[in-house]
Amino acid sequence: MPELIPERKPTNRLLLGPGPSTTDPRILRALSEPTVGHLDPEFLRIMNETMAMLRYVFETENKLTMAMSGTGSAAQETPFLNLLEPGDKAIVCVHGYFGERMVDMAGRAGADVTVVEKPMGQAIDPEQVADAFKKANGKVKLLSIVHAETSTGVLQPLDDIVKITHDNGALIVVDTVTSLGGVSVGTDRNHYYFVYSGTQKALSCPPGLGPITVNEAAVKAIQERKTKVHSWYLDLSMIMRYWGQERFYHHTAPVNMVYALHEALRIIQEEGLEARFARHRLNRDALIAGLQAMGLKLVVDDGYRLPTLTTVYVPEGIADAAVRGALLNDYNIEIGGGLGALKGKIWRIGLMGYSSTKRNVLTLLTVLETILGGMGYKMPQGAGTAAATAVYTK
Ligand SMILES: Cc1ncc(COP(=O)(O)O)c(C=O)c1O
Repeated sequence: MPELIPERKPTNRLLLGPGPSTTDPRILRALSEPTVGHLDPEFLRIMNETMAMLRYVFETENKLTMAMSGTGSAAQETPFLNLLEPGDKAIVCVHGYFGERMVDMAGRAGADVTVVEKPMGQAIDPEQVADAFKKANGKVKLLSIVHAETSTGVLQPLDDIVKITHDNGALIVVDTVTSLGGVSVGTDRNHYYFVYSGTQKALSCPPGLGPITVNEAAVKAIQERKTKVHSWYLDLSMIMRYWGQERFYHHTAPVNMVYALHEALRIIQEEGLEARFARHRLNRDALIAGLQAMGLKLVVDDGYRLPTLTTVYVPEGIADAAVRGALLNDYNIEIGGGLGALKGKIWRIGLMGYSSTKRNVLTLLTVLETILGGMGYKMPQGAGTAAATAVYTK
């Protein structure tokens, strides 16, 4: 036996990175409620309520709306495994790290993948998509795209891309891991086929579940498969029988995580979607005004900036890791660094769900002014916080 391991004492950090966001204390309390059996009638009622509230947040009437047991990556792999069969054609849009991952997932599902690409920090152009469909030699089964690219902070406009995809008779799969609960997803209004997300961003739950919603056409495509899904655990044809009327045992649901999601969704209902989206936009605008007044340059062009995640270049002569280290070690604040081609070059600042508040914006700007000032970065004293405050008082 090893020496007696001391009790965990995780620090109460302010999570302002790309996720997880700070968990709402109400949700932490829900996690500590007594575990019941995964087929207990009380739990079945909680599952039904969770599905109903997920429909509200996804803005859909889709019957198949539930949470995969697994993080966002499990939800992300689910559409590729369930909708694609070996040899099917897929178009995958890549404008950041999470799009790249979809290429791998679609390939592993056996698809013949065409990649439509834009450099990190930019949005995919509908013309590129139209072109890919034109060049595809035969019917394309599926197109996938990230709505909120967490590696860059880009909010991808989707209207034209959805139309082109529909006109070509393909199923559209949308990643809303960093948008759901902070930005309108509008599943039905936008005619998406398969939408997935994660719990640890704008829903402010801990990581661990992957909400999905699937429309009837996509369910039909799953039912008409000729081959078995190449994953037992992520096979929706079985999982839908557990979340549906039959309650057919598939796996032991992570009961307490479902309580947590249930509470997160109740919090969203109480606030109301429109008010929640407006709160995310306002705090984003105040943060941006503050960063710009400090002379920092944003990565993403105006009009494409996510309300949940802002990306900014590390100023010349300043060491990325030293700033993030000081934030974490001296102030208990986490922000994110860059991924892939943007590693060491940018910071990713998340204002998601419970973390998206005026207090957090002003705290972060004040602390950043202190840290950067101490490193010799020249900026007008107090300009960041003053500019952010002005946004709130406007
Ligand atoms: C856009 C996007 N897709 C997928 C994922 C994968 O989710 P997870 O890390 O919860 O498995 C993430 C995680 O950050 C993400 O930001």
